[in-house]
Amino acid sequence: MLLEVSPFKPKAFLISGKNLIICKTENGLLSALANKCPHHGKKLSDGWCEDNKIICAYHQFSFDLETGLGCGTGVDVFDLEYRKDGVYVGIPQWSFL
Ligand code: FES
Repeated sequence: MLLEVSPFKPKAFLISGKNLIICKTENGLLSALANKCPHHGKKLSDGWCEDNKIICAYHQFSFDLETGLGCGTGVDVFDLEYRKDGVYVGIPQWSFL
């Protein structure tokens, strides 16, 4: 199945017990970030993508789609691997998330 992601709206997934968002960067690649804003813990999937950042819908904190950094803090970013049969997300075996 083809993974379709809007360049403006993150797509939420539950992968290996982790709530993630997949976003499309300005260069057309995908990025995977934790679906939890470090400000007040709201879902980043309620926000939108703009200027290669995810904007939280609640107080408009923004985080870079590739590094997760922004507003003096950051969101966890997960590695992606493109394979013939799909896109795989690298979930660490041990995490505080
Ligand atoms: S909860 Fe995301 S900016 Fe406040």
